[in-house]
Amino acid sequence: MNRRIILWAILLVGLCRIEAKAQASSSIYDHLKAHGLPIGILPKGITEYYVDPTSGFFQINLTEPCDAKFENQFHYDFNISGYLSMGKIGELSGVSQQELFLWFPVRCIRVDDPSSGLIYFDVGVVDKQFSLSLFEDPRDCTAADPDDHSSNGFQFQDQFVSLGHEIGRKGILRADS
Ligand SMILES: *[C@@H]1O[C@H](CO)[C@@H](O)[C@H](O)[C@H]1NC(C)=O
Ligand SMILES: *[C@@H]1O[C@H](CO)[C@@H](O)[C@H](O)[C@H]1NC(C)=O
Repeated sequence: MNRRIILWAILLVGLCRIEAKAQASSSIYDHLKAHGLPIGILPKGITEYYVDPTSGFFQINLTEPCDAKFENQFHYDFNISGYLSMGKIGELSGVSQQELFLWFPVRCIRVDDPSSGLIYFDVGVVDKQFSLSLFEDPRDCTAADPDDHSSNGFQFQDQFVSLGHEIGRKGILRADS
């Protein structure tokens, strides 16, 4: 009798584990959560994605490039890729952020200390600091105007490094008021 209860318990624990595992990898948002990142850094409705479990390399195909507004305007390309690790997305490509009408590619997104409530976006020349709470939920992302940005940030970035520093100094002021 006792043995049967124990067997049931083992089976139950096993089932829960399997279920937890399946859930943990059921969407790109779950992958973000599992790495201590807020799910709102990616737009709503991503279904086509791939995450390499060993390297953390991920790839996302959106149905169309789109824009989402937080404190700043964010642009997501058709294809987004990068490397997921704990509290960080590195070597990011396909995401850019607008500052004073210029677009800067976001290269890295970091949450150094979740209790600080802050998230950092490395836009090449500087780190932009935002409140984590801005990124709690994925946003609707509206189809982007193809003439509006594309890769302006890339072309202009070198010429505007000094401007970028100006922006950065302002940007480091907490953007969560
Ligand atoms: C994205 O699209 C390309 C081309 O259609 C395909 O090769 C790639 O596997 C897709 N990636 C994902 C994550 O679905
Ligand atoms: C980027 O995404 C688009 C749309 O899903 C796809 O057609 C294209 O092949 C992708 N490119 C790469 C390099 O994956």
